[in-house]
Amino acid sequence: MRAPRSNPISDPRINRVLERLHKQARNQLPGLLLNYGAAALLMKLGYRPTEHVRTDYHRDKLIPIDPDQGWLIYLLCRSLKARRVVEFGTSFGVSTLYLAAAMRDQGGDGIVIGTEIEPTKAEKARAHFAEAGVSELIDLREGDALQTLADCGGPVDFLLVDGWVHLAEPIIRLMAPQLRPGAMVVCDNVGHFPAAFADYLAFIRNPANGFVSALLPLRSGTEISVKI
Ligand SMILES: C[S@@+](CC[C@H](N)C(=O)[O-])C[C@H]1O[C@@H](n2cnc3c(N)ncnc32)[C@H](O)[C@@H]1O
Repeated sequence: MRAPRSNPISDPRINRVLERLHKQARNQLPGLLLNYGAAALLMKLGYRPTEHVRTDYHRDKLIPIDPDQGWLIYLLCRSLKARRVVEFGTSFGVSTLYLAAAMRDQGGDGIVIGTEIEPTKAEKARAHFAEAGVSELIDLREGDALQTLADCGGPVDFLLVDGWVHLAEPIIRLMAPQLRPGAMVVCDNVGHFPAAFADYLAFIRNPANGFVSALLPLRSGTEISVKI
């Protein structure tokens, strides 16, 4: 028998917002699968869409990490005693809320640097942060992550890579020198589309680039890496 699931986040305000957003995302899933059916098959073969970053279609789509992944990044940040946490791809702010919960629960003097290129999504994310009571823990940088994350202001303890696939590799190259030794990196969707992430994996799995890395079976494959 499986043990019951256990949410490590105790703040009811954060949990209320997260539950609602996860439900909203689940309701969008059938439409996303229909819309992406062909593209997803091509992505399994290595195709990396680059044109859809700003389309109308994506404006109301959350596409968040799963709660299991959220609890993992929360626990990793707690273990690392992370004080400067960065995410590429904020969307409506689901992953950001897990990270902000970790900052709050370990004293409240840390910061989550999020980044979102779509202004209407950034606006929604900010409303969710306010509703969850964590706005002061988040520096949401609106714009292209390749610019907004160029200077994160000091050593970074944890990085979530969850934007569009073709930018995962340039983002890890940009962030690698900013990560402190022992920092962790979590990258979503690798198990779904390993061929599309080939350049990211080639970089992060090459010890010469300063990381050790493994694919864990969360959401069919989440790459987790440590800066050495
Ligand atoms: C999969 S969603 C992120 C989901 C989010 N991490 C969560 O768990 O709630 C990817 C997001 O990355 C954003 N994005 C894509 N390219 C970007 C870029 N160059 N700079 C900043 N954000 C970008 C997209 O607009 C989209 O909202």
